[in-house]
Amino acid sequence: MIYLDHAATSWPKPPEVLRSMADFLERAGGNPGRSGHRLSIAAGRIVYDAREAVAELFNAADPLRVIFTMNATHALNLALRGLLRPGDRVVTSSIEHNAMMRPLRGLERQGVALTVVPCAADGTLDPADLARALEGGARLVALNHASNVTGTLLPVAAAAALAHRAGALLLVDAAQTAGVLPIDVRAMGIDLLAFTGHKGLQGPPGTGGLVLAAGVDASLIEPLMRGGTGSRSEFEEQPDDLPDKYESGTPNGVGIAGLGAGVRFVMARGIETIRGHEVALTRALIEGLRAIPGVTVHGPLDPELCTATVSFTVAGRRVSEIGYRLDEEHGVLTRVGLHCAPAAHRTIGTFPEGTVRLAAGMFTTLDDIREAVAAVATVVATGTVAT
Ligand SMILES: Cc1ncc(COP(=O)(O)O)c(C=O)c1O
Repeated sequence: MIYLDHAATSWPKPPEVLRSMADFLERAGGNPGRSGHRLSIAAGRIVYDAREAVAELFNAADPLRVIFTMNATHALNLALRGLLRPGDRVVTSSIEHNAMMRPLRGLERQGVALTVVPCAADGTLDPADLARALEGGARLVALNHASNVTGTLLPVAAAAALAHRAGALLLVDAAQTAGVLPIDVRAMGIDLLAFTGHKGLQGPPGTGGLVLAAGVDASLIEPLMRGGTGSRSEFEEQPDDLPDKYESGTPNGVGIAGLGAGVRFVMARGIETIRGHEVALTRALIEGLRAIPGVTVHGPLDPELCTATVSFTVAGRRVSEIGYRLDEEHGVLTRVGLHCAPAAHRTIGTFPEGTVRLAAGMFTTLDDIREAVAAVATVVATGTVAT
């Protein structure tokens, strides 16, 4: 089996991640931050260690400004719905995932003005277009760091400078880049960073978070949920302390233990090493697919300008047939269709059929890529034309 669906979730997870989760349940299974006994303290220590690991990875000043969430979707909803009010203006791109688009469309119905800056057909965003969209000022610029359809990287540092000049904050959806590309919230000028734990960070499902940069005033961001935090229990009002303000209810301690181990695994291997490996895989993938007659690869076609996520279509053929046969006949696991990102597919011209998406990960080898490309060539050469 060749697993090429790392853009959906990474698999397999490093053994360290599995071990840390079993350890949490076996040796530290108390409720973190609640009771004062040893199992609760041990659990709290593991959760705090994970916060420190995430802060270190993203060069965030303060681990207490790492808010754990269920996933990137939860983190994006917290940032968008916590910050934006009727009358505010938010600027986004045309290649966003529905985790960004759906909350934004919902807020638009409540009176938030939404501007969607069109990206080019390869998914690239021209900073000049963003600058034009920001001429009237805005409260927030909200962009993904990389598309989950074409892997295209967006110019985050340039967007930060433009956002700040216009008086806006920058929210970055790093679902596709956390753990695979260097992310430095301070150097890149990111104000709010939403990440997921179960993709490049090698953690389990049910983990993710929102990093609030040092200068962001948390009093402007309302929590999505209010409830018990284990702190300031004498008050019936939600505490303002971070991260408690945004983390009501028992946290996913076992998941966070796995996330912390995943982040430490990524840091030990080195982001530059991971990125170098994935650039080599992406180059082989793009070149191999483009050499197959009838195949169109969508995206920037330059591995330095994208993640290891490559989408393709085949003239006259259904993506569902190709994905199904890659799995059934060759053991190559892909994802076909719209990838929860209809706006991105409209942008690259593949709506509503979508694409076949191959997404490599840190454990994928060049041999895996060669075999997968050979499998695509066989499926394409022997298929039936769609009617
Ligand atoms: C760009 C992007 N944003 C957000 C998400 C949502 O991530 P999660 O499933 O962790 O909520 C994804 C997941 O596929 C994604 O690719």
